[in-house]
Amino acid sequence: MARKTRRVGRGVAVVGAGMSKFGAFKDKTSRDLMVEAYGELSKGVDKGLNSKDIQAMYVGNFSSDLFEGQGHTAPIMASWLGLVPIPATRVEDACASGGVALRQGVLAVASGMYNVVLVTGVEKMTNLPTEKVTDTLAAAGDALYEAPAGFTFPGLYGAMATAYMSKHGASPEHFMRVGIKNHQNGALNPKAQFGSIKDIMQGRVTKCKEKGQPIPTWKDEMDFLKDNSSNPVVAWPMRLFDCSPISDGAACVLLVAEDLAKNYTDSPIYVIGSGQASDHALHERPNLSSIGAAQIAAKEAYSMAGVTPKDIRISEVHDCFTIAEIIATEDLGYFEPGRGAGAAADGLTSRQGPKPINTSGGLKCKGHPVGASGLGQVVEVWTQMRNKAGPRQVPMDVPLALTHNVGATGGTCVVHVFERR
Ligand code: COA
Repeated sequence: MARKTRRVGRGVAVVGAGMSKFGAFKDKTSRDLMVEAYGELSKGVDKGLNSKDIQAMYVGNFSSDLFEGQGHTAPIMASWLGLVPIPATRVEDACASGGVALRQGVLAVASGMYNVVLVTGVEKMTNLPTEKVTDTLAAAGDALYEAPAGFTFPGLYGAMATAYMSKHGASPEHFMRVGIKNHQNGALNPKAQFGSIKDIMQGRVTKCKEKGQPIPTWKDEMDFLKDNSSNPVVAWPMRLFDCSPISDGAACVLLVAEDLAKNYTDSPIYVIGSGQASDHALHERPNLSSIGAAQIAAKEAYSMAGVTPKDIRISEVHDCFTIAEIIATEDLGYFEPGRGAGAAADGLTSRQGPKPINTSGGLKCKGHPVGASGLGQVVEVWTQMRNKAGPRQVPMDVPLALTHNVGATGGTCVVHVFERR
């Protein structure tokens, strides 16, 4: 293991976690989703939680203002959770809002300012029609240069995918393999927005039968994904099943000072590494086939934790598009540049493989309510590390896990390393 080069002031442990179901919920507000997530957390703390113990709250949220017409969302959430008057602070870093909120919570506990902190993330995206969601998300890119040039998020990641294909000779089938794997994992996650691609295919067949339409005859998932009518191009080479969906959801974790952890559970997990970095907007970057901020954040997190990429057992990475998972696994040092593309096809990143990635289903299948996604990742590693993931539990012990959360095209990246002792 590498030598530790930087440490937080004092140790920080996760002692509870919870999330709402992710999906499209017409009748629910972000407040309802937050109450659902916190309800699961508070009921699930092994030795019980007195909400009066919580001293501060952070809320990862990209844009309640534009999605719901509600600014100043942190105190509203504190009020709905019955936590007023503790300080409640909103953290915004686009799709990395949840991961950066976690880092703020870690710093708050590590500094000694607070002993017990609730970190939450929430987004309610489906109030708006798709074209308005697309415009709202585009505000996370460069509004002066990228959006006026016609770039949407599928378009920006499409450009990254094209650059990657041109540099490394990858093909759209490589991206499709990532989608198939993540849908297979998500099908075993009751909180996920979608099921397996096989189930989706079956649903389409049933619909055609009901409507008396010709029955499609796809041979397998790959055949379905290569069919332009079942998997249309959104922004070449990103097709529908290469994109994360538009989602509603909330997730939260409870952080405490390390020496208090055993008051809440006999099996806490410890945050032993935290790294964050920023970068220019995509159009100003010389290299579109990797994310520099992710490489720097990962290096910082590994160094603080005193571990190497080889030591990490499972990872939840930011697969807002399938290409993003491939790039993430290279930026994190799991595969050499260009080798991440074949990892899903070769079974390296499956639940049974040597480097399981996105056992939850990832953003692709579990859903991507942007402000909540970084914390949804932590809920998964918490569940896997404590051997509580049921049918999607990986068949290996998980003493070390990692989360990787990206804002926009990599303007922000935040990486955390977790340890079970
Ligand atoms: N993957 C797979 N299926 C999807 C899907 C996705 N991402 N999004 C929607 N679907 C399915 C729906 O379930 C629905 O299926 P059904 O007809 O069997 O019920 C069908 O596709 C149409 O759904 P709809 O909601 O009308 O899709 P849409 O065309 O409005 O939106 C996208 C599709 C890809 C444009 C939208 O999901 C999107 O913008 N995703 C990217 C979000 C994003 O950029 N996030 C930030 C990343 S940094």
